[in-house]
Amino acid sequence: MADRNNKIRFAYVGCGFVAQTIHIPNFRAQPECEFLALAEARRDLGRRVAARYGIPRVYGTHEEVAADPDIEAVGVSAPYALQGRIAEDLVRAGKHVFMEKPMAVTLARAESLVAAVRQGGARLMVGYMKRYDPGNLALKRHLDEWRASGEAGRLLLARNHGFGGNWVYAADPNVPLDTSDEAPPPAPDEYPDWLPIALRQSYLGYLQQWTHNVNLLRFFLDDAEGKARVATVQLDPDGMTGLVVLDIGGTRAVVESGYTRFHGWEEHTQVYFEGGWLRTQAPNLMHKETSASVEVYRAGHDGQPPRRTQEFPPPAWSYREEAKDFLHCLQTGEPFRSSAEDTLHDVRLFEDIYRQFAAQQEGPRP
Ligand SMILES: NC(=O)c1ccc[n+]([C@@H]2O[C@H](COP(=O)([O-])OP(=O)(O)OC[C@H]3O[C@@H](n4cnc5c(N)ncnc54)[C@H](O)[C@@H]3O)[C@@H](O)[C@H]2O)c1
Repeated sequence: MADRNNKIRFAYVGCGFVAQTIHIPNFRAQPECEFLALAEARRDLGRRVAARYGIPRVYGTHEEVAADPDIEAVGVSAPYALQGRIAEDLVRAGKHVFMEKPMAVTLARAESLVAAVRQGGARLMVGYMKRYDPGNLALKRHLDEWRASGEAGRLLLARNHGFGGNWVYAADPNVPLDTSDEAPPPAPDEYPDWLPIALRQSYLGYLQQWTHNVNLLRFFLDDAEGKARVATVQLDPDGMTGLVVLDIGGTRAVVESGYTRFHGWEEHTQVYFEGGWLRTQAPNLMHKETSASVEVYRAGHDGQPPRRTQEFPPPAWSYREEAKDFLHCLQTGEPFRSSAEDTLHDVRLFEDIYRQFAAQQEGPRP
């Protein structure tokens, strides 16, 4: 375990859009972080990002980061399938990893990553930032209280409505840096071996977006042990628009998915009891001082009138909160709220969702 008073010696691998717009500035700003190095396949871009943020060591590959004995923790964001392989190499080299979702595109890769975590001395957290939003944490506290006390009766349904829109609405146009560097050759793909070729792109599209929403519902409903099961899949031929019904610990949980051209971010989660509901409305993702807002509705009973209250938790940026929590957990040894072990269950659910969807479609087998 790292010493609470010591800074975490940190590096970052992959300096593309998400790294520059979100993670590098967020980690750089934390007093607990000693930002020592970055690695970027586009060398010129790597040098320019390092210069912008005053990061002393610039590498071209994650293997160089893995071999740097001064580094104890690494952030990773790279192409979907590649980032799981990079993370696994780093964990096997003994580096703690904070990585972007999806942790893996296949259950086999996710299992291999979890095995690496269990075998080695390194830990892995996945960047499911919604679990760090103070508004979502407030909903979770109410939900736990209502379930423990029984005051609102039976828990009837949880639903997440994720119709997206423009996730970078109001992002700073000066970040990221433009680059004329040639992109690295595409990494070899990784797909579940049972997945029809025709469904590969939509599988990736669905997984990479709605993994957040499934992960959040599992968090609200305490599914750390991965008991959630896929009940019903009803997606359009685009493989994204529609409904998925999960059973999470005996509660029906619905994921409503679709893309709209909404200018901001349209997402909310609502948990219904017989005697009321809890609801969070997600902020625009690039708003750096806005938490999800929370609505608590209690039905009237025994002569009491109904009550509907709106809560505005302290302003925060969930992406910054997750960076702080990663460093805090490394310093204290506390468990991650979005660990590799927990995320394994999301990857399994997505294979199960798409297995059902594939069975409803026709297409050539790989
Ligand atoms: N949590 C969120 O809200 C959120 C939002 C968007 C994207 N993401 C995730 O972030 C990841 C990255 O997305 P992005 O938009 O930044 O992509 P990007 O293509 O802009 O950046 C990826 C970077 O990795 C570099 N790279 C590729 N191979 C490399 C290697 N072997 N070693 C070092 N660097 C390498 C590329 O040159 C590129 O600069 C994706 O997996 C995506 O799922 C998360």
